[in-house]
Amino acid sequence: MAEPTPPSWVRVWRGSSQGGEFLDYKVPGEPGMVVLDALLYIQANYAPDLAIRWNCKAAHCGSCSAEINGKPRLTCKTRLSEFEGQIITVAPMRAFPIIKDLVTDVKWNYEVLKKIPPFQPQPDAKEPWTIYQRDIERAQEFHRCIECFLCQDVCHVLRTHRKMAEFAGPRFLIKLAALEMHPLDTGQRLEFIKDAAGIGYCNITKCCTEVCPEQITITDNAIIPLKERVADEFYDPLRWLLRKLRG
Ligand code: SF4
Ligand code: F3S
Ligand code: FES
Repeated sequence: MAEPTPPSWVRVWRGSSQGGEFLDYKVPGEPGMVVLDALLYIQANYAPDLAIRWNCKAAHCGSCSAEINGKPRLTCKTRLSEFEGQIITVAPMRAFPIIKDLVTDVKWNYEVLKKIPPFQPQPDAKEPWTIYQRDIERAQEFHRCIECFLCQDVCHVLRTHRKMAEFAGPRFLIKLAALEMHPLDTGQRLEFIKDAAGIGYCNITKCCTEVCPEQITITDNAIIPLKERVADEFYDPLRWLLRKLRG
């Protein structure tokens, strides 16, 4: 017979925008249990008013984001067994305002999304569109994004420097990269990427790539190519001269 798994102690942040504290709860150790299971156990057995956000419990909806032992992660994808013998600390994402307990207000992200210039296909492109496989592959990973906003949470430009007004964050830089790399797109977004999305604030720390649960290579495959396009467009002296001559 399999050995019973020892119980775990889970330390959960409880409170509101006015302040709060960490409270400890003992949860039974069941094989395969994830942090979200522990939070649901706490809700069912000790704290029915514990506020958490979740939906799919399958790492698809992106709603159960939190900071587990200090690292932004999905609670439904993080097993308790990873932390054997340790207290597991669960806190809300730090980059966004707290609503209650582990639930944060992420609506700023949707405001950023609304401002992104949309896809503009070539008006004369014959349907069905023919697209090279290499063009599909280049942008495909960006479409895996589940909008968990863990990358936004970890990025120091938003988390520490609070540049919400100046910087769109990694999630939206991959959105912009997907649009820019679409072979049939005719949209003009480089000025938006430079000014409104503030790509210059990113100093390539790659923390966003490290926490992405979808393993999207955010920095190397999206942000750096966008930075190169912006540099070519706005900081190339020849182009600058041409723009000046054309008025
Ligand atoms: Fe989450 Fe990754 Fe999308 Fe960022 S890029 S929102 S970390 S899935
Ligand atoms: Fe932030 Fe990622 Fe750049 S963490 S600084 S957007 S590489
Ligand atoms: Fe949907 Fe975790 S509950 S991603």
